Amino acid sequence: MTSNIANDRKILEARASGLVLPQGFVFGAATSAYQIEGAPSADGKGESIWDRFCKVPGVITDATSGDIACDHYHRWGEDIAVLKAIGLGAYRFSFAWARLIPEGTGTVNQKGIAFYDRLIDDLLAAGIEPYATLYHWDLPQALQDRGGWYNRQTAQHFADYAAVAARAFGDRVKKWTTLNEPWTFCWSGHASGEDAPGLHDGTKGGVTASHHALLAHGLAVPIIRSQVPDAAVGIVFDLNVTEPATDDPRDVAAARRFDGAQNRWFLDAVFKGSYPQDMLDLYGDLLPPIHAEDNAIIAAPVDYLGVNIYRRSVMAEGTELAPLNFQRIQPEGTYSQVNYEIWPRCIYDILHYVHENYAPKEIFISENGVATAPETVSADGHVWDDLRATYYVDHLEQVAKAASEGVPVKGYFAWTLTDNFEWAYGYTTPFGITHVDFETQVRTIKYSGEIYGRIAAQSHSERARSAGLGR
Ligand code: FCB
Repeated sequence: MTSNIANDRKILEARASGLVLPQGFVFGAATSAYQIEGAPSADGKGESIWDRFCKVPGVITDATSGDIACDHYHRWGEDIAVLKAIGLGAYRFSFAWARLIPEGTGTVNQKGIAFYDRLIDDLLAAGIEPYATLYHWDLPQALQDRGGWYNRQTAQHFADYAAVAARAFGDRVKKWTTLNEPWTFCWSGHASGEDAPGLHDGTKGGVTASHHALLAHGLAVPIIRSQVPDAAVGIVFDLNVTEPATDDPRDVAAARRFDGAQNRWFLDAVFKGSYPQDMLDLYGDLLPPIHAEDNAIIAAPVDYLGVNIYRRSVMAEGTELAPLNFQRIQPEGTYSQVNYEIWPRCIYDILHYVHENYAPKEIFISENGVATAPETVSADGHVWDDLRATYYVDHLEQVAKAASEGVPVKGYFAWTLTDNFEWAYGYTTPFGITHVDFETQVRTIKYSGEIYGRIAAQSHSERARSAGLGR
């Protein structure tokens, strides 16, 4: 190791030790079912749209799938041990709908319930709080065959599924998220087609799926509450502060349209009770039928908003997804393996944007992290992912700054606990704070995981000290 690297690490570690987040701040890591579980048809699990989509030639960069992934279905105990070793108090995961209800509706699979029972019980025994997400993109294929998110009825099926899950796990799970990233699964799945179910239906597809997904959320919220009266219920949006590439009014208008599609469409619906008028006007005939009662259903009060944030968006006028007609500009800078600009301030800006415009009671950063090229364990037994370790310190400093200015940000979840199946990128762009050797399934906590764990530990002990509990 050169002395430069050693010195950089010392500086980074000092910055990590100086980071203190507010009282009660939650440090966790996030995953999703399809990306880690494997076992696609074990114990009666039904097929999901991702099981089906991965079989389409050419859609996954390395022609892989989540068929094995991290084999979490059999190795959940190892993953809990990793969470514990890093020192995290919370774990955000998702249920595979088709594991619990193989056809999406109707018969419940008791073996699927039993798997999540084991996971939840073992998390709690390890002192780790489960944060459950009901939908992280893996719609049961049987529902896709009936129109999927184009079919308004899917919203009701989702609410029924939420009732089953809340009944089964609500005695132990108190943090419930309905949907993960409706913008991405609706638009990448139905407008541009790079995610399952791989439809290329443009804006009409994106906006139709989005409305039904939001309806699903709104129907599920009171159902979860009725089953689990002491639950905190929320939703996770992927948001970016959008900046115009230039002062040209055409770019300013394109940035505003993009902000409308990705951010305001979802936030206004949930927190203000109606879609933004400029977007309703823009979408016009492309909108699905919106019934009189829909706005009120979607605006069911939530306890928190989860924000997934990976970058900012710099937009100019262009030709993508008419009538949105934008193009993404990539400013000069450092880019991750999935070609996202590394721009730590994005997290500070989005926290203020959400707080000032929508004032959710509580905000969680439910995902944040960075992709690199695949890594290897070095001879000294470490995985030296300095770029990722720096990323976490840089971004958590921005969270701490927003918190110190009064933004009610209550927790942070690293994306992701272990290297896993990164959707259309397959295994080519790992995001983990833990390395997985996919030949042997051996887990090795990376340098970023060590640094992140130190920040969590430091913040806890700092709080204990200021509460007079420390030595
Ligand atoms: C988010 C997804 C998550 C993961 C990260 C990198 O959009 O929620 O599953 O793929 O991006």
